[in-house]
Amino acid sequence: MCGIIGFTGRRGCAGFLLEGLERLEYRGYDSAGVAFARPQGLVLEKAVGRIANLRTVVEKSREDAFAGIGHTRWATHGCPSIENAHPHCDAARTVAVVHNGIIENYGLLKEQLQRQGVRFVSETDTEVIAQLLGFYYDTDMPTTLRRVLPMLEGSYALGVLDARAPGTLYCARRRSPLLIGQGEGEMYIASDVAALVEHTRTVYPMEEDTIAALTPQGMQVCTLEGRAVCLAPMHITWDAAAARKGGYAHFMLKEICEQPQVLQDTLEHYADLARGCIRREAMPFTPEQARALSEVTIAACGTAYHACMMGKALLEKLAGVRTTAEIASEYRYAPVCDGAPENAVFLAVSQSGETADTLAALRKAKAQGMRTIAMSNVIGASIAREAGTVVYTLAGPEIAVASTKAYLAQVLLFELIALDLAHLRGRLTDAQLKEALAELGRLPEQAAAILARREVVESFARRNRACHDVFFIGRLMDYTTSLEAALKLKEVSYLHSEAYAAGELKHGTIALIDEETLVVGIATQPEILEKTYANLQEVHARGAYLLLIGTPPRTLVAPDCEVWSMEGASWRTAPLLATIYAQLLAYYTALQHGCDIDKPRNLAKSVTVE
Ligand code: F6R
Repeated sequence: MCGIIGFTGRRGCAGFLLEGLERLEYRGYDSAGVAFARPQGLVLEKAVGRIANLRTVVEKSREDAFAGIGHTRWATHGCPSIENAHPHCDAARTVAVVHNGIIENYGLLKEQLQRQGVRFVSETDTEVIAQLLGFYYDTDMPTTLRRVLPMLEGSYALGVLDARAPGTLYCARRRSPLLIGQGEGEMYIASDVAALVEHTRTVYPMEEDTIAALTPQGMQVCTLEGRAVCLAPMHITWDAAAARKGGYAHFMLKEICEQPQVLQDTLEHYADLARGCIRREAMPFTPEQARALSEVTIAACGTAYHACMMGKALLEKLAGVRTTAEIASEYRYAPVCDGAPENAVFLAVSQSGETADTLAALRKAKAQGMRTIAMSNVIGASIAREAGTVVYTLAGPEIAVASTKAYLAQVLLFELIALDLAHLRGRLTDAQLKEALAELGRLPEQAAAILARREVVESFARRNRACHDVFFIGRLMDYTTSLEAALKLKEVSYLHSEAYAAGELKHGTIALIDEETLVVGIATQPEILEKTYANLQEVHARGAYLLLIGTPPRTLVAPDCEVWSMEGASWRTAPLLATIYAQLLAYYTALQHGCDIDKPRNLAKSVTVE
């Protein structure tokens, strides 16, 4: 989704803005632009496509601007074009605006301004903000923002330049994330930490409905009513190297390969492996809350939703807690039944912590009086700040659009929470908990062993380059892994891939199976292995060629069935290990097809609009 960067300081800022935009590229975009406040007035530069295109334009303009804003646009209102790219200006070109979010009543506001003679040059909702700020300009920019922002319905993170105060950078936010960064004699704004980590470790997440005026000396923040606000600082723990490729061809491969470490970090943070117990202080439930817990609702989008499905399976299987996994975009509009059940908990899961639908689902649960917990990978993200309690996944920055390491961290954290609940609710003895944690303790090593075999996956992807349709099948947790495997493959390689609960195939979908179809069976759960093998046999009999990820059967399902197994894995660790194989399959297939792996078409990393 759109990314914002901004600077004010005592040096030219073209380089800062362009590098910042490159760091935001991973969020997804189709055009980009910058605006500089120079003594002679505002200068705007824009380009369609990659930041590299913008660089060729901007490098022609002089580095004499000490304040500037930049933007990567992910088109919503109007196609990707120079006219629609941000920044947008008012008619007099005294105000420039970059915006992340959606202004829902922009049509009405635009009509009102047009009736007063204002001419628009773009199709965007953002231009309305710039024109309103120009049209209603009064005294200074903070006063004008306080007058204009209440007219807007929807969401916005804004960066604003005013030619009348060229050294000052203004910003505001409502329901879209925006960070203020503090450097040595300079101040920044950015949509996320990745753009700032090279320059500062001290950031201030903007609060809802606040406006800030930044100068090299510092910041002044106030509410829409003009009341002064003191923002709380946050320390960025990621180092700059974590946000670079570090010798890998793609961020996706780097992030897949980081998973043994991510699993190790998660285990060590939430459990004491040597003593075989959970670290109580890191868990979201007290013993009393654990015992009283009546039910859990977990909501998220996309891959994080698949982690919710795993969470449901684990909470029910281990802790015996009735759990519902909800797609956040559905949950937010679903009817509310009478009265929230007592001791029910709502848990929002999000890598970015900024997904608009997940945030809306969290707010809905909160409004119903449920206790809320956030599982976020980004410290201080909106979801983390709005929930009553937060647990962090320790995956580090995830830059590739396709989520990989965050998913594994989420599932492992669910397993640890479920074990903790099971123990506190008396379903697991100390010895059983110790044994389960010992099994999980072998996970990083098992994950590393799979990664060491990645040329097997690469060679399979090369041999199956011509394949067009892929079905992933499995049962129970293996069905969830199938959903994640199919999503990963389609989003990075653009191949048609679907997941089915293995038993559902013969209720319709089996009609699609022919000699051109690859069917991938995921089989890791001992109690349903034989059933999945039987389903693989059925599709093989109808011509499909097969790949089995999981426990191999005693006699091969088909003579040419490829098998990727994981030695020493248990039912607990195997779903995560199978996912690593699936991620590698998606990666190497996309590589074979020459796809833009880290930035797949049409996708955005952080979906901050509905
Ligand atoms: C798929 C993917 C998306 C995200 C989804 C939620 O690989 O990355 O499906 O999982 O957009 O994002 P977060 O977790 O940031 O809320």
